[in-house]
Amino acid sequence: MAKEKILVTSALPYANGPIHLGHLSGAYLPADIYVRYKRLKGDDIIYVCGSDEHGVPITITADKEKITPKQVIDRFHEANKIAFEKFGMSFDIYSRTSLPVHHSTSQEFFKCFYDAGLLVEKKSMQFFDEKAKMFLPDRYVEGTCPRCGNEEARSDECEKCGSLYDPSELKNPKSKITGETPVLKETSHWFFPLGKYQERLVKYVDEMNEKFGWKDNVLQYCKGWFNDGLKDRAVTRDLDWGVKVPLDGVSNKVLYVWFEAVLGYISAAKELSEKRNEPELWKKFWQDEKTKYIAFIGKDNVVFHTIIFPAMLMAWNDAKSEKYVYPQNVPANEFLNFEGKKFSKSRGWGIDVTDFLDLFPADMLRYTLGANLPENKDTDFYWKEFQSRTNGELADILGNFVNRTFTFAHKHFDGKVPAKVKSEKIDEEMLAFLSEAPKKISELIENYKIKDAIFEMMNVARAGNKYFNDSEPWKSSKTDKEKCATTINICLNTIYTLAEIFEPVIPFTSKKIFDMLDAKPTDWMNSGLANLKEGHKLNEPQILFTKIEDAVIDEQINKLPKVEETPKEIVEEISIDEFKRVKLRVAKILEAENVKKSDKLLKLQIDLGSEKRQLVAGIAKSYLPEELIGKKVLVVANLKPAKLFGVESQGMVLALDTSEEGKVKLIEIDGSIELGKTAK
Ligand code: MF3
Ligand code: ZN
Repeated sequence: MAKEKILVTSALPYANGPIHLGHLSGAYLPADIYVRYKRLKGDDIIYVCGSDEHGVPITITADKEKITPKQVIDRFHEANKIAFEKFGMSFDIYSRTSLPVHHSTSQEFFKCFYDAGLLVEKKSMQFFDEKAKMFLPDRYVEGTCPRCGNEEARSDECEKCGSLYDPSELKNPKSKITGETPVLKETSHWFFPLGKYQERLVKYVDEMNEKFGWKDNVLQYCKGWFNDGLKDRAVTRDLDWGVKVPLDGVSNKVLYVWFEAVLGYISAAKELSEKRNEPELWKKFWQDEKTKYIAFIGKDNVVFHTIIFPAMLMAWNDAKSEKYVYPQNVPANEFLNFEGKKFSKSRGWGIDVTDFLDLFPADMLRYTLGANLPENKDTDFYWKEFQSRTNGELADILGNFVNRTFTFAHKHFDGKVPAKVKSEKIDEEMLAFLSEAPKKISELIENYKIKDAIFEMMNVARAGNKYFNDSEPWKSSKTDKEKCATTINICLNTIYTLAEIFEPVIPFTSKKIFDMLDAKPTDWMNSGLANLKEGHKLNEPQILFTKIEDAVIDEQINKLPKVEETPKEIVEEISIDEFKRVKLRVAKILEAENVKKSDKLLKLQIDLGSEKRQLVAGIAKSYLPEELIGKKVLVVANLKPAKLFGVESQGMVLALDTSEEGKVKLIEIDGSIELGKTAK
């Protein structure tokens, strides 16, 4: 098979806090599994990442702790780098955006756009905190919405009523940094004309999706942005921490962190070139159209990787002769929650990677997270599940198969691979299954179905155990030595296959197994063939997984802050007449689409039999628009119309809470019930 040239990146984590399990599941573990698999296939690949070291949150942490931003990033860059290493991340380089090579790379991009006349300078009034002596980014100003009175509105936008306004209209503004009342001050910024690229971006996304199959969640986000219409975006900020704007006479402005952070992928590759002393290496990947570039991220980063970064690359490529490649796929994951709730550092909910790895081997964590990746929906890490996957799958299925085979080979065959002399149907079937396994798993990984791939990996160990049981070598060792030898030969070759196909997921264990076999991995696609030959000497077996006791898991669970009992709801009684005032009627959903600027709301067109109406429903986190078409639901038909995010809603659709935070389930009505029927 032709070798591919592949560039892989994972989102650069902020050097503003420790890595937690949610980060790993989103953008790091899936990428590492993909990369390790590609390396075993023999592809030419580089995998780069690094710390994102600019942005306001870092300056705020520094102020709070009375240290410099540099001290903040140095601490977390080092800590995160080590945590990733312990977790077995196989980056070719873990760079950082505070390096000179990154500053010059991002300034070069800014200059390129500036010189091409693309950037537009605009003056505006922005809140300035006189105590902190800084302009305040939108999310650091809070005030009362001039339209609906919401007291937690942002400087130019209210999330509650969806209105946008001029910052001067915000009532009672407060700086979230100092609590002071900020003043409005004029400033000017450069804007990148994102709208100019809309048409080409739509085409780019379509084409990539057609050729390489993008994930639905990613396409949905893109569609939302395209529907809203792309607008000019400011690419500078009034701050002193960051990459300086490279223009004469501009001293107190830096490049907007997202503008430069994505370019960190390029600077990281440059640093790798330097380290390896191969000056052309970064160009070989970044500037060759044959490169397959895959960007792994979490869902909150989609727009930056599918729209803004590609637009920046288009702008560069239009102006220069050395052209960059675009992301060919952006397999974004949803989020991982922890024991049913969002990770929260301030509430002590969750666990740092370093703390975790002080307690348990990395492979146990890699396996549980991998088996439960939030590929299509949010998932949870549960301590109990971690225990049962470790004990019931890693130890009882994989560990047990390896152990019983090794013990048997040492006892009956002098620690050598016995000859496969006589093969019966059961043996041929096992060999055929083995030779197919790497291909099947390969196809799943190629399509970013890593969770399914891991399930298939464990299935090989399951099949190994079944084959061992059905072949009964403990009997044949007494009655039919040749049959027994064949069984153990095939079991040992199955272990070889397992060592290789599991390498991307549990690399530390894979290495142990290869050591026990005294063998090395081969080309991935051949790993299912009988690679161990007769007479090959084995090493002594080692324990692969130690089971986790209940007490150890209970201790972790008990450490979590106690969830306050929700007080029993006091339900106010109403009379039957009051209830009768509510008109519940059956409706069919005809159309559904996302509401602009909201990730919670969908706009629905419904048919009540006698009339059609438009509703806005808070179900976007639970349903994709297209899944809703045709569903029959229950609607409160006489609710006063209201506007949500500027969209009129004439009624309310009924749904039930679920145990998953933020998710609901519509009350669906049997298809045979007529539209417009009232519930009593
Ligand atoms: N630091 C960002 C985050 O953690 C991700 C940056 S990705 C990059 O959400 F592309 F900008 F580098
Ligand atoms: Zn409002």
